[in-house]
Amino acid sequence: MSKSNENGDRPKVRGAGYGNDVATQRGDFLDGSAVRHIRSLIGRPDGGAVRALDAACAAGGQARRMARAGALVTAVDLLDHRQDILDADAGEDPMGIEFVQADLRQVDLYARLGTFDVIVAQRFIHYLPFAQAADVMRLFRSALNAEGKLYLSASGLRSELGRHYEGTSALATRYAPLWQPMADKHRIHGNVCLYEEADILALLDAGGMEAERIYTTPFGNIKTIARVRLA
Ligand SMILES: C[S@@+](CC[C@H](N)C(=O)[O-])C[C@H]1O[C@@H](n2cnc3c(N)ncnc32)[C@H](O)[C@@H]1O
Repeated sequence: MSKSNENGDRPKVRGAGYGNDVATQRGDFLDGSAVRHIRSLIGRPDGGAVRALDAACAAGGQARRMARAGALVTAVDLLDHRQDILDADAGEDPMGIEFVQADLRQVDLYARLGTFDVIVAQRFIHYLPFAQAADVMRLFRSALNAEGKLYLSASGLRSELGRHYEGTSALATRYAPLWQPMADKHRIHGNVCLYEEADILALLDAGGMEAERIYTTPFGNIKTIARVRLA
């Protein structure tokens, strides 16, 4: 099978147009940061379980890493990845990952699933126009514990995906298809909103959150660790 990018990630995804499921192929620094945070919370004095949400989980690669670290994991995706999660859980030591099929633009995470210590949402938010992405940030915020952390990434405007991209410079209206060769290479079909670091900070702000850390990967994608904004 051909490689899709410089990291060697293969075109492994069933949901047409939403790009590659990278999380089942490798964990990156952001995934590892979430896992390290979970480990640091295990055995905390209040004795409570550590809860983690893999938002836009696809086949649940990061859900598995977080479950192995000891978290109680809920994995949510628009598409039905229940069997993938069950298959991953079929070993001798079932991890008990709960799969919920839902549209993250609409599901009231707090009312339906309660609160989380960790929310990971990698390679998803750029599929939404900015206003909808801000709604999702508000839903994430409502489902984060006071001390909770969000691990978020988005495709970068300055990455190769931005080549000949016709999205406007204004974030509120930036929602356009990729240049066809990039759409084909990355299997991203339909409109996207590509981000720079300042745009992600604006997105977090719109959702009532703030960055603890933000960085741009060598590929040009934006990654952030965020928390609920203090009043
Ligand atoms: C590129 S995959 C990312 C999978 C995994 N998080 C990773 O980092 O590799 C994007 C995922 O977003 C999901 N998705 C897209 N729009 C969604 C929505 N509105 N609600 C929930 N999931 C959505 C797709 O079904 C797909 O599984």
